Amino acid sequence: MGMRERFRGRDFLTLMDYTPREIEYILDVSAELKRMWMRREPHEYLKGRTIAMIFEKHSTRTRFSFQAAIAHLGAQSFYATPAQMQLARGEPIKDTARVIDRYCDALVIRTYGQEIVEEYAEYMVHPVINALTDLTHPCQGLADMLTIREHKGRIKGLKLAYVGDPWNVCQTLMVCGSLLGMDVYVAIPEGYQPAKVILDFCEEHAPESGAQVVVTHDLEEALRDADVVYANTSHSMGQPDIEKRKRDFAPYQINAETIKMAKPDAIFMHCLPAYRGEEVTDDIIEGPQSVVFDQAENRMHTEKAVLALVVP
Ligand code: CP
Ligand code: NVA
Repeated sequence: MGMRERFRGRDFLTLMDYTPREIEYILDVSAELKRMWMRREPHEYLKGRTIAMIFEKHSTRTRFSFQAAIAHLGAQSFYATPAQMQLARGEPIKDTARVIDRYCDALVIRTYGQEIVEEYAEYMVHPVINALTDLTHPCQGLADMLTIREHKGRIKGLKLAYVGDPWNVCQTLMVCGSLLGMDVYVAIPEGYQPAKVILDFCEEHAPESGAQVVVTHDLEEALRDADVVYANTSHSMGQPDIEKRKRDFAPYQINAETIKMAKPDAIFMHCLPAYRGEEVTDDIIEGPQSVVFDQAENRMHTEKAVLALVVP
């Protein structure tokens, strides 16, 4: 089977379901679609198709980037929150999924548990695309890898230092690193840990790619010689104890002093939204090392590639 055919009709629930070669291929398609978009060349590969979007958490980038990508591909999107749907009045996911499946060629969903996106996928024939769960944010991961490739020319052999909640975004970066051969150092306070399923996945796959995936309480260890400095909030959507988290994560702030521990040409990344003065200071986001808006733009190009590849 050719590379192209391997994607058609496939769910995109986590990058753990994709091989390094498949991820690189999605990045190549993303780069090509980005070139076409920059040259204003039409790329309506999904003309006449319909894509459902169910978002149970807030979103700016994911919602708008998907809706823009869907429009560029010539398809139509339908957006709803569970509160607006019969889901809120008790209709089961298995019925909702089968109904949407009769109208739409794919479902993009943002929710809490990974088991929820898995349940939609089980009951839908058409592909389900994970737009963020508590476990993982694979669309963010693709945009991050494309951004790193653009700014550093490669992914393999680099070192990424991460500060922030060791949740969805962090766990996705750990998976990306272990599959693509990039060291990922996660600097977090004591009492916090990434999910065991992610730690186990990295332990199994990092040796194959030559990556080191390390969780440390030592910010300096994480930042030393880092090519990429990545920050995220300490209080992700759905996490309890926001004030305690802010206090616990305060020593891990990326600012003018701490960023000096990384390589002088390190790039600064953030999935956004950023909480200036918490995980990062304003001068870093606005400074010359920051690529956060390239990263946000790349959400659209990489999601477009996923849609173009998986929608049948
Ligand atoms: N990075 C990201 O997913 O942003 P939104 O929550 O705004 O979609
Ligand atoms: N970790 C963050 C990412 C938002 C894009 C959250 O889940 O809130």
